[in-house]
Amino acid sequence: MKLPKPRFKGNISVEEALKSRRTVRAFSKRSLSLDQFSQLLWAGYGITEGFRRTVPSAGALYPMDLYAAVGKDGVEWVDEGVYHYIPEEHSISLQTMEDVRAEIARASLFQSWMADAPVVFIITAEYRRVTIKYGDRGIRYAIIEAGHIAQNIFLQAEALELGAGIVGAFDDERIMNIANLLRNHYPLLIMPVGYRLPPDMLSHF
Ligand SMILES: Cc1cc2nc3c(=O)[nH]c(=O)nc-3n(C[C@H](O)[C@H](O)[C@H](O)COP(=O)(O)O)c2cc1C
Repeated sequence: MKLPKPRFKGNISVEEALKSRRTVRAFSKRSLSLDQFSQLLWAGYGITEGFRRTVPSAGALYPMDLYAAVGKDGVEWVDEGVYHYIPEEHSISLQTMEDVRAEIARASLFQSWMADAPVVFIITAEYRRVTIKYGDRGIRYAIIEAGHIAQNIFLQAEALELGAGIVGAFDDERIMNIANLLRNHYPLLIMPVGYRLPPDMLSHF
């Protein structure tokens, strides 16, 4: 599925996004628009010029992949399921047709708040795409690159008046199976994204 073109102008400054960024762990049920979803994927690992991306990459080898677990009614015009982002086409391809957010939350030490986010992004590394040039040190480079992707998603979420969470505590093998990730794509970070729950509703938790 082809995604709408990303926008290169936003409503808040980088400084404002940096100032307001927090790890969000409570989301409203409101759906994301297809434009917001497209923008988050582009910010995470999209193409900016030629084959170059929104993130730096050791040797410009780009060993990472971005997946999105979309919940039922999570994104307008997108059915529930897990999608693989194809930066070169700015498109998504379906990996599994199930809403796996609750399973992802269970495989993440039962962090149940994750399942309330309309979209849960999974950042993965395919190490051989970078170790082929840099040997074992390539593993470090891929892990660093995951951090760049995550911060881009954080800041883009802020700029879209959304909030993002970040999770490193999960069972790798289980996430690979649940999300039907491509072979040798190892999950490094999981990021639930959605509208922040208004502060007055947070007091009920
Ligand atoms: C690599 C990494 C792993 C993390 N894993 C989790 C996690 O599993 N669950 C969680 O609730 N927060 C997780 N966090 C978020 C941190 O708890 C959070 O960033 C920290 O408390 C600072 O808060 P702030 O992000 O709101 O500034 C993780 C953050 C990083 C960078």
